[in-house]
Amino acid sequence: MENKALLIVDGKEYELPIIVGTEGERAIDISRLLQDAGLITMDPGYVNTGSCKSAITFMEGEKGILRHRGIPIEQLAEHSSFVETAYLLINGELPTQEEFTNFSESLNEHSLVHEDMRAFFEHYPSRAHPMGILSSMVTALQEFYPALKDKPQEEQINITFARLVSKLRTLAAMSYNISRGHKVNYPKSDLSYCANFLKMMFDSPVKPYDIDDDLVHALNVFWILHADHEQNCSTSAVRLVGSARVNLYAAISAGISALWGPLHGGANQATIEMLEEIYRAGGDIAPFIARAKDKNDEFRLMGFGHRVYKSYDPRAKIISGVVHKVLGKLNRHDPLLDIAQRLEEVAVKDSYFIDHKLYPNVDFYSGILLRAFGIPTNMFTVMFAIGRLPGWISQWKESIDDPDWKLHRPRQVYTGFTKRDYIPMNQRGKK
Ligand code: CMC
Repeated sequence: MENKALLIVDGKEYELPIIVGTEGERAIDISRLLQDAGLITMDPGYVNTGSCKSAITFMEGEKGILRHRGIPIEQLAEHSSFVETAYLLINGELPTQEEFTNFSESLNEHSLVHEDMRAFFEHYPSRAHPMGILSSMVTALQEFYPALKDKPQEEQINITFARLVSKLRTLAAMSYNISRGHKVNYPKSDLSYCANFLKMMFDSPVKPYDIDDDLVHALNVFWILHADHEQNCSTSAVRLVGSARVNLYAAISAGISALWGPLHGGANQATIEMLEEIYRAGGDIAPFIARAKDKNDEFRLMGFGHRVYKSYDPRAKIISGVVHKVLGKLNRHDPLLDIAQRLEEVAVKDSYFIDHKLYPNVDFYSGILLRAFGIPTNMFTVMFAIGRLPGWISQWKESIDDPDWKLHRPRQVYTGFTKRDYIPMNQRGKK
């Protein structure tokens, strides 16, 4: 019985096909189980559930491997740019020079946002979290820019992708400047994607922002490292919401909301807040390590652990190198980096972290890098979202093109009351 699993329930046998991926991953196909055997499978949190076949990103958690369209993340971080990696994810291949130029020009062309959208910012409560603002702005985009219709032409699809990739960055910089009461800086056509972002964020009439190529390179690496991560929480949200055939903007907005959570993309903000707390408490890491290990304490070491990586997150390795280079370049010392390094040194030798296979993830060092750029803490997860956008788009595109496409609709095992009668209000509570 090659590539089949045998399930025996109540003495009856069911043959279940085994699907094999290009890297040898194997999955039991249970899609006919309900129909054939009247059974569903249970897997809270989808720890052991494959929701789709995908040709975009490969991860191997035990070995700390991450590849996009087959190319190792280390090679992309060293040789690629964020725009090129976005193209690779969305289109499946690295672009030729001509394709790259066209894509970059399209990003340029679609980088402005409708002036009327400023009104949204102006009426948001001043203390609103930028992730909430970003999520609603992206939903609003569909009212300003025509959403994709049922069977859109390729050109229309590509314009929508370019709009999203380019405008999300513009919206992020706009929200930062408006929140500070500063003038909005518009994108410039002669600057690259990353240089444009830094200029829009930090240029001021009283303090012009000089673009530093090393910082631009570091930002490219930061966004490349966040560009996709197969079926994580926010990407699954994009696929799930998209499966109801909502417009792309609404699906991306759902991804942004999911990413906001501290167990997911919000961990970069939560990690810096934890490091600051340790710093304010005098820098002693011992009580925090003890709390993270205490079963009765909800505290977790933020920036540690991952659902898939059970060894070092390859992105954390790259980002810690970038942090050192950027701080060196800026001739700056960040005491939070010292604390982070001490936490890592202790944790990787501690039996709790070893036994639980907990290692630094991408969020452990990324906040220190973002601080060095001058990005405020509450915008850290927005930075993650800009990076993850090409991944969300490519996963959404793959899902709508999938011949096996289905509305996402999980099942449940009901554990509530069995049938009982309605009780009129005047008779309730009487024993
Ligand atoms: N600190 C202390 N203990 C931890 C941690 C941590 N950061 N992470 C997991 N554990 C323990 C947990 O208490 C549990 O212990 P036990 O089995 O003894 O009860 C065990 O490890 C398994 O935890 P889990 O929550 O069932 O594992 P998971 O695979 O669902 O968790 C995680 C993955 C990322 C949610 C979790 O490791 C975590 O909460 N980490 C901190 C938040 C964080 O850094 N998130 C960013 C993830 S990477 C960026 C991204 O892709 O979003």
